[in-house]
Amino acid sequence: MTEIDWAGLRREAEQVRERAYAGYSGYRVGAAAVTEDGRLLTGCNVENASYGLTLCAECGVVSDLHSSGGGRLVALACVGGQQHSPPQPVLPCGRCRQLLAEHGGPGMWVDSPDGPVRMDYLLPDAFSETELNR
Ligand code: THU
Repeated sequence: MTEIDWAGLRREAEQVRERAYAGYSGYRVGAAAVTEDGRLLTGCNVENASYGLTLCAECGVVSDLHSSGGGRLVALACVGGQQHSPPQPVLPCGRCRQLLAEHGGPGMWVDSPDGPVRMDYLLPDAFSETELNR
């Protein structure tokens, strides 16, 4: 694994979590990622009165990736919890695994309660653009 400042990433995720818009579930999530060229990206969850339209914190990270110049994701940390609970590491939901895999590939690292794991552990045999060319 390339040298990742996991403590720093978790801290950034905790900070951006403070900005979560999560009044419906009360579950506040923050995510922070680093790109191949060393940029720091962040995102928080943004809920909606039409619950199914909620944007996960990881969606914000992917938007930040492209709005700040594109490139590839190398590592991501995500933390969540109810407002007054201490934030805990959160593994991305199924949709976000697919979303992140598109921009980080199978070798991207994702924080977990047991320490960082590779994307191809979280999403084995992923569907990707390779399939579209068959
Ligand atoms: N959530 C995230 O932001 N990321 C995840 O990977 C899991 C779930 C958010 C969505 C919703 O606002 C809240 O957590 C409860 O599901």
